[in-house]
Amino acid sequence: MSGASAPPRALVTGCAGFIGSHVVEHLLAAGYRVHGIDSFDDYYDPRLKVANIEAALHDERFELEVMDLAAPGTTQRLAARARPDVVIHLAGMPGVRRSVAEPARYVRSNIVATQNLLDAFARQHPVPIVFAGTSSAYGNDTVPPFEESAPCNAPLSPYAATKRACELLCAAAAETFAAPITVLRLFTVYGPRQRPDLAIRKFATAMLRKKEITVFGDGSMARDFTHVSDIVRGIAAAARERSGFRIVNLGNASPVTVLDLVEKLGNALEISPRVRFVARPAGEMNITYANIDRAGERWSWRPCVPLDDGLAEFARWLKRERRTVPERLRRIVTRGHLLGARPAP
Ligand SMILES: NC(=O)c1ccc[n+]([C@@H]2O[C@H](COP(=O)([O-])OP(=O)(O)OC[C@H]3O[C@@H](n4cnc5c(N)ncnc54)[C@H](O)[C@@H]3O)[C@@H](O)[C@H]2O)c1
Repeated sequence: MSGASAPPRALVTGCAGFIGSHVVEHLLAAGYRVHGIDSFDDYYDPRLKVANIEAALHDERFELEVMDLAAPGTTQRLAARARPDVVIHLAGMPGVRRSVAEPARYVRSNIVATQNLLDAFARQHPVPIVFAGTSSAYGNDTVPPFEESAPCNAPLSPYAATKRACELLCAAAAETFAAPITVLRLFTVYGPRQRPDLAIRKFATAMLRKKEITVFGDGSMARDFTHVSDIVRGIAAAARERSGFRIVNLGNASPVTVLDLVEKLGNALEISPRVRFVARPAGEMNITYANIDRAGERWSWRPCVPLDDGLAEFARWLKRERRTVPERLRRIVTRGHLLGARPAP
């Protein structure tokens, strides 16, 4: 651990992603030194990821390392170098539909990368670990609202299966090495910098371009949309755990159907949406709905951002982003792909 006067040190994997970039900002504001890891994979435009952490890159307390956690041997060297007080593991391949097409990629970036991380930070240099799990673990056979004690043994997609496998590897590491590990099951996260493949950003972008929105099935699928600031508070609370293993839901506990979401988003953008219905793809759950009693009892955590407020903020952000991002992305290319990032030795 750091000395009494030294600032706490956090290692954040997936630091340039949507949630990771918010976590980095929160930790820097809370006085941490942050060692960020990201492979800048091409799941979506890596320049958007550089843009996500542009501000942090100007903070001398933030160090970025470009690293693929699934590559053999990398995490051992990382542990010796970074010496964190806590590890927040957000890196991974997200997204249900791509996982149906490319399952092996998910096995590598989720399962192999997580085990590499556990080898270094649960076994060799043990520190508290927070892992980003997902509501997808619950599948379609869990009765909503989902409780953490549900069996979660019927995943609907390779994404869900690999993230559930990671949870089990975390449980095994906690058991074997008495490592303090918290698995957070995150429920559809939204807010500024949301991934471009996620529904709210896809729908809003289509509306602003005056294009049709593509809705799966009849639009009755429901999601427990949760604002990224609420998720970040939950991650920060989990990062203060110092012993034991637990799984905790972080969700809004207030699901809405996709059709209701489209209407709310139209209101936020002041645009009447045009909707086209297409067949529902494989891997999608009927509903996600978090029981959040455990997070409340353990950390007094509850979501604070109502969906309508969060969507209004998102609409303002996206309009601003659309004006400024093309120029920012051009600048990132001309200034070098990863700014001052130091490649892993
Ligand atoms: N966004 C959501 O709604 C949601 C919901 C549930 C769970 N999660 C989980 O939260 C985490 C963050 O999600 P996000 O939405 O911010 O996704 P994101 O894609 O924006 O961020 C993930 C980051 O991890 C990096 N990464 C991927 N594989 C890596 C590897 N092998 N080594 C190093 N870095 C790697 C990517 O480059 C990316 O920047 C993911 O693990 C995701 O599965 C997200």
